[in-house]
Amino acid sequence: MTEAITIHNLTKTYPPGTAALNGITFSLKSGEFFALLGPNGAGKTTTINILTGLAHKTAGKVLLFGKDVVREYQQARAFIGLVPQEFNMDLFETAYNVLYFNAGYFAVPKSERPARIEKRLRQLDLWQKKDAKVRELSGGMKRKLMIARALIHNPKILILDEPTAGVDVETRKLLWNYFRELNQQGITILLTTHYIEEAEELCKRIAIINKGKIVAMDHKEKLLGLLERERITLFLTKAIMSVPSSLQKYHARRQNHTLTLEFNPKKDSFSSILSAIQNAHLPIEKIETSRTTLEDVFLHLTTP
Ligand SMILES: Nc1ncnc2c1ncn2[C@@H]1O[C@H](COP(=O)(O)OP(=O)(O)OP(=O)(O)O)[C@@H](O)[C@H]1O
Ligand SMILES: [Mg+2]
Repeated sequence: MTEAITIHNLTKTYPPGTAALNGITFSLKSGEFFALLGPNGAGKTTTINILTGLAHKTAGKVLLFGKDVVREYQQARAFIGLVPQEFNMDLFETAYNVLYFNAGYFAVPKSERPARIEKRLRQLDLWQKKDAKVRELSGGMKRKLMIARALIHNPKILILDEPTAGVDVETRKLLWNYFRELNQQGITILLTTHYIEEAEELCKRIAIINKGKIVAMDHKEKLLGLLERERITLFLTKAIMSVPSSLQKYHARRQNHTLTLEFNPKKDSFSSILSAIQNAHLPIEKIETSRTTLEDVFLHLTTP
């Protein structure tokens, strides 16, 4: 299968010496929906800036459908529709013209532009705002206009840098559905986010990036399997001085009036833990259970 994005040993050092990327390697097959998930400052936008020619790599190899982003910049760049993290539109331009000029930038023939613009504005529910100036749009509408702009030249790859930051819940759901549809039409999508829920909801494969390094990369089910644990929280009527020895093996953590136990359901049965809890004769008020989420995996991998 063709590789849409190939990144090999990519490093980026900003002067005077900030190492933003320390040799990252990953690739996306054509048609994939992939998430780069990481905390602030991890290197997500830097990676995207290198893919789109906005920043120069220090070392490593980056190809888009086999085209080198530096040596074959124009061909490589034409594959990409970019929705940047920060707004970068002319505030005094109309929504229609933002799309019109971007179509021009990518050499879409003038005769084709009106139909393409109408299609994208309608899909993103912005058609009634076509003559409004960018500064007259709400934050969520501006974000949607940047998505329409990214798609105007029918790119094969869509890059979304935190595309739902600052949009309300309803718009977020709408955008998620739209991204899914675009992906089903064959567009390869690279998404960066720190909303774990977003990566979990949309992407099959996820790479977790922290401090310029990929710390985990896998199918999301396998990533969850990294910490396949059940958690039991015991709420106590009074604080206890120490963890009963019979419970210590369950990674017990004591805090004020709660005691948290964790176990791998493949190794320990639920009933054996329940009887250990009963035998410890604790002053239990309430018991809660929960499963590991991607959030736990993320915290586990990114906190020192
Ligand atoms: N133009 C720049 N000049 C100098 N340092 C930069 C520049 N852009 C980014 N950096 C540094 O590179 C590192 C990675 O930043 P980057 O913007 O890639 O992070 P990010 O993962 O996108 O974070 P966020 O979630 O906050 O958007 C940070 O330490 C940042 O300060
Ligand atoms: Mg960023």
